[in-house]
Amino acid sequence: MPEPMLVCHGGAGHTAKDQPGVDKAADTGWNILSAGGTAVEAVVAAVQIMEDDPLLNAGTGGRKRADGSVQLDAAIATSDDRLGAIMAIEDTPNPIQVAAGLLNESIHILVGEGARQWADQQGYPKAKVRGSDSPSGNDTVGCVAIDQSGLMAVASSTGGCTGRPRGRVGDTPLWGPGLWVDQNVAIAATGIGEEITLKMLCHRVAIHPGSLHEKLQHGLSLFDPSIEVGLIGISVDGEGLGQANTEMPWAIRSANQ
Ligand code: GLY
Repeated sequence: MPEPMLVCHGGAGHTAKDQPGVDKAADTGWNILSAGGTAVEAVVAAVQIMEDDPLLNAGTGGRKRADGSVQLDAAIATSDDRLGAIMAIEDTPNPIQVAAGLLNESIHILVGEGARQWADQQGYPKAKVRGSDSPSGNDTVGCVAIDQSGLMAVASSTGGCTGRPRGRVGDTPLWGPGLWVDQNVAIAATGIGEEITLKMLCHRVAIHPGSLHEKLQHGLSLFDPSIEVGLIGISVDGEGLGQANTEMPWAIRSANQ
């Protein structure tokens, strides 16, 4: 039987002061997994904790756009071939909930006003999102997990990068660059979205031969060191890891850690 495991991150470029929020998210997800919950339940709960943390760049702490608006992106995917992604949604404190609501629908990606209209129809909470003016910590939160059935899930959420134009979408909700899961690994990226998208990062990491460590190292090696990038991953054979070319708070939970 697979051993449940979970890895969370609080964004490349974030520092140790943001570690407590990541630890809290990891503990929340782990409590679900260790009680027999699913990988989907665990990653959604963990990401939601980080969306509610004003220090992290997602949900409540989402960085503001050039026009002062807070437009959020979130996505979730599973190793049984399901995907939900929400882009540039407003007035939605927990976009990961809305993305997860798409997992079992026949459409998988919704954008902007249409995303919020669908969220209204489904009854997801609507409220003004405070947002953050912080010029630093311009990144994402994410979580990968495997549950006792062997199902893997990956979830990410972000406010994007401070000062980007309205309507801009980075890597976070993009299947391939920002997140990937297959029968072997689940991978989430964090960093400058335009650069990560150009590299199709998470997919390239997943298909690189070798251990999870070697896969993540390969992913980081694709970037000039001046570009902040981080990755988390888990493998079906029991590896879990976070790596970045800068500071990145991350946490792992399993029966052994
Ligand atoms: N990686 C988050 C973003 O660039 O939007």
